[in-house]
Amino acid sequence: MSFLTHLECSVCRAAHAPAQVQSFCRSCGKTLLARYDLEAARKAHPRGFPESGPPSLWKYAPLLPILQPENIVSLGELITPRIPCQRTGSRLGLPHLWVKDEGLLPTGSFKARGLAMAVSKAQELGIRTVCIPSAGNAAGALSAYAARAGMQAHIYLPEDTPPVNVKECLAYGAEVHLVQGNISDAARRMNQERKDHPEWFDVSTLKEPYRLEGKKTMGYELAEQFDFRLPDVILYPTGGGTGLIGMWKAFDEMEKLGWIGPRRPRMISVQAAGCAPIVRAFREARRDSLFWENAQTVASGLRVPKAFADHLILDALYDSRGTAVAVRDEEALAAVREIAAREGLFLCPEGGAAFAALPVLLDEKAISPEDSILVFNTAAGIKYPDLIS
Ligand SMILES: Cc1ncc(COP(=O)(O)O)c(C=O)c1O
Ligand SMILES: [Zn+2]
Repeated sequence: MSFLTHLECSVCRAAHAPAQVQSFCRSCGKTLLARYDLEAARKAHPRGFPESGPPSLWKYAPLLPILQPENIVSLGELITPRIPCQRTGSRLGLPHLWVKDEGLLPTGSFKARGLAMAVSKAQELGIRTVCIPSAGNAAGALSAYAARAGMQAHIYLPEDTPPVNVKECLAYGAEVHLVQGNISDAARRMNQERKDHPEWFDVSTLKEPYRLEGKKTMGYELAEQFDFRLPDVILYPTGGGTGLIGMWKAFDEMEKLGWIGPRRPRMISVQAAGCAPIVRAFREARRDSLFWENAQTVASGLRVPKAFADHLILDALYDSRGTAVAVRDEEALAAVREIAAREGLFLCPEGGAAFAALPVLLDEKAISPEDSILVFNTAAGIKYPDLIS
C-alpha cells in the first residue's frame, strides 16, 4: 500500500526507522522527513492516480506513511475545492485568481489533514496518549481524531484561544490546559508536565514526522486540480509553516515521479504585522528566524513567534523565488468581510490575511496580472463568530 522506506533528517540526513516511534532527529534535533521508494512508485503510477480513487486525501495512500489500511483513522477528509474568485480578481486586476477552501475539511480547518495522518500513524505504532501545544485548530483536529481512535488527548492552548477551539476540544473529550501567553508558552508548560508522563506522545508540528505528510496532500491535490501545470504563485498564511513545507515536498516528489517538470510556483508566506518572524528573516536574507517578542494578532493561527522548522520555510521561499509579506489585522478582517460579500466565501482571519496581501504584492510587483494565483483559506470563517461584527 505505501512506498515508505525511512525517515531522513532534513539537515544532517541521518536515517531513522519508521517502524519505531520517532519525533525529531536523534543526532541534530531537526525535523525528520518521510522518504519513499519513488522509483518504484513512478513505475506503478506513471500518470498520477486514477480518477476512480477515493475522493479523499487517502487516494494518495501509496505516497503516505500508513502501512496497513486498517490503521487509518478517518473522519471523511474530502478533496477541497479550488474555487475561482472572478469578482475579486476583476477588482484587483488579477484575472486568474483562485482560492483553495480548506474550511470544508473535518473540524473546519486544514489541520485535519496533518492530524488524520499523525493519529493514524500513532495508531499503527500503538500509541494511546497524545499531547499538543496549539493555536487552536490543530488542537480541535487532534481532539477529534484522538476521540475517533479511542486515544486520550492533552491539549495546551493560549488562554485567549478562540472560544470555539476550546469548546470543540472539550466536546471531543480531550483534557484542556489553558496557559497564559502564546503557543510557545503553551509548549513550555506541556514539556514541563510531560516529564511526569513519559507515555504521552508529543504531536507538535514538525517535531512529529507525519503531520507534514498529511499537509503535503494539499500539493498533490492542487497539482491535479491544475492538470499538473502548477499555478505561478501560491499564497499561504504561515504560522508553523507545515503546509508550505509540505507542498514544497510534494512538488519535489511529483517531479521525481515524473508527474510534473522542474517549474515551481513562487511560494509566498503571509503573516500578521504583529507576528512576522518569517517576513523579517526573509527581508534580512536570513536562513532562520528570530523569536518574535510580544506576538499579537487576531489571526490566532499566525501567532507563532518562532517556527520549529523556520529554515525549511525560508528554504522554500528562497528556492521558489517567492517572498514573504505581513498585513495588519484590520486589513485581514476587512478582506474577510469583502470576500464574504463578493464571493460568498466566509474566510478565516488567516485566509483574510492572505487575500489582504494581494494588493500589497501587486504594489511591490511581486505578482502581476498574467500570474495564475492560488490563495489558501485555511479554515472556515464560521469558527470565528466573535471577530465579525
Ligand atoms: C486557520 C489557520 N491558518 C493558518 C495556520 C498556520 O498554519 P501553519 O502552521 O501550517 O503555518 C493555522 C495554524 O494554527 C491556522 O489555524
Ligand atoms: Zn539531523
